[in-house]
Amino acid sequence: MSRKPIIAGNWKMNLCQNEAKSLFEGISAFVSNYKATELPTVVIAPVFTSINQVHSIPCDCGCNGYKLSVAGQNCHWEASGAYTGEISVEMLKDAGCSYVIIGHSERRQYFSETDEMINKKAKAILAGGLIPIICCGESLEQREAGVTDSWIAGQIRKALEGISSDDVAKSVIAYEPIWAIGTGKSCDAEEANRVIKMIRSVVAECAGQASADSIRILYGGSVKPSTIEEQMSKSDIDGALIGGASLKADSFNEIIEKTMKISSSCCC
Ligand code: 13P
Repeated sequence: MSRKPIIAGNWKMNLCQNEAKSLFEGISAFVSNYKATELPTVVIAPVFTSINQVHSIPCDCGCNGYKLSVAGQNCHWEASGAYTGEISVEMLKDAGCSYVIIGHSERRQYFSETDEMINKKAKAILAGGLIPIICCGESLEQREAGVTDSWIAGQIRKALEGISSDDVAKSVIAYEPIWAIGTGKSCDAEEANRVIKMIRSVVAECAGQASADSIRILYGGSVKPSTIEEQMSKSDIDGALIGGASLKADSFNEIIEKTMKISSSCCC
């Protein structure tokens, strides 16, 4: 089963508009040198106020896809209304987004997001025609207590509850062990692959084997140009969700380039 890799940059709460614009220019200039068939799917997720400084780059093969796509970092599940500080799927779509990151551990930890909220967001995103990037991952305490697999399996089962097999197939999951985020200490690639295989088996249980074979599952947590080749050489790691190393065009482009060398991607 060949799954086109995704290299996604989560810019988190970084970069004002002029900085986002120049980072985007550095990435888009690089991506524009290649055909979509040569590239992984590239996704960037700026802060909401900088989305207007970036744009998606259409695929060059005649399909309706993009070789570079824009993602929101969060959304609300309601379409509109009295939800101060929130943003809807339609608003993100209107601004040019085709993906939305949900369930990031920073949102779970600092903003008390629950699996139930993440499930509602995933459904709203898919209903709006966008693609959710659903994050999951264990804390160091959970890993040391030996509950990594059961914890993550629970997060995935709840996130996917009530979502059709077709919608699950087009979704993206990012396995991001919390202890590896922003620490410089990335999860051993063999272990990340093991957990991702386990996630794929949970997806099969929830939505069938065909959806499990199609869904793209990324690794995130201190991914750098020096780690990506080993990570991408593993059977079940379909790409990366990158924080720190996505904030500089040089390192993000190097990660894209190294992914190209490893994956002979089909189109879109
Ligand atoms: P770092 O790559 O900075 O560890 O961040 C990972 C992450 O949280 C991406 O969503």
